[in-house]
Formats: sequence, C-alpha cells, structure tokens
Amino acid sequence: MIKVNLLNSNFRLNSLEKNKIKNQIKYYEDSRSVSIEALKIVQKERGWICDEAIFAISKLLGVSVVDIESVATFYNQIFRQPVGKNIIRYCDSIVCFINGYKDIQMLLENILAIKTGETTQDGMFTLLPTCCLGNCDQSPVLMINDDMHFCVTPKLIPNLLDSYK
Ligand code: FES
Repeated sequence: MIKVNLLNSNFRLNSLEKNKIKNQIKYYEDSRSVSIEALKIVQKERGWICDEAIFAISKLLGVSVVDIESVATFYNQIFRQPVGKNIIRYCDSIVCFINGYKDIQMLLENILAIKTGETTQDGMFTLLPTCCLGNCDQSPVLMINDDMHFCVTPKLIPNLLDSYK
C-alpha cells in the first residue's frame, strides 16, 4: 500500500513527461488505458517508479491511484524500486533450463557479487529472472536492457558485461 504525504512531496512530473503522456491520450479510448504508457514514459526519465510518481500520473490522467498502482505492479517491466543502469534478465523457462541457464545465472551472481533481484554496489547492474523470451531455439537467452543475447555460454559472460560498463 502506498503511503505518501503529498503535502511534503516535492515530486513533480516535468514538462517533457507531461507532454509525452498527454500525447498518448489521443491514441486510447480512455485515460485508464494510457496508464502503462505513462508509467513507461516516467520510468524512462527516472529509471523507476516511486510512489509519488504513481500519484502524479493518477492526477494527470484522472485515474485512481489504485488503478495506476495495480498496472505498475502487474507489469514486470515497471520497476517500483531503484534499479541499476543496466538490467540483466536471464530466461529461466524450461528450454533455457535444459540448455544451462543455471550456470549462466551462477556466474553472473559470482562476477557481480549479487543475488538475483539485487543491484550491484556501483549501481551498474540489476539481475532479474524472466520467463521465456521467445527465442528458445537459441537458448540460453539473456536480455540486457533492450538487447537480446542468444546461445550464451559462461565463457562469453565477462566480455558481455564489460561491453555495458
Ligand atoms: S525458454 Fe528461454 S527463450 Fe524460451
């Protein structure tokens, strides 16, 4: 449950965020349907969605806080807490399991010195599991930010991580 004293909040959507969100309204039949786009717009600007952002989006769209919050928590692409500069998602579905995602996961956790769900101390990487990424024929599959990486082997991991630093 969100607990925000709005009177003490300095949070404001900036004009770029407001304009982008308002621009989306014309593509949807009702404001509620704009919620996910609004959340993505704010997350792109700020990296994650704080409670105050939920209230601000709610006010801008005229949609209840509960509705915005439920959309934000339903979609696993929306982050409700700060994340690293780079988001690593390893597929933990069945084909990637058969083809060894566990070795990839363990190596990532060792190199980054974090567990799945955590962010490195320097804020560079957050490690998350994800369900099937739709490229089972090229598993194991990793997604880093918007980039897909196929047929990943432990040997490839160090250079792959370096390329995102
Ligand atoms: S099971 Fe991993 S991409 Fe489909």
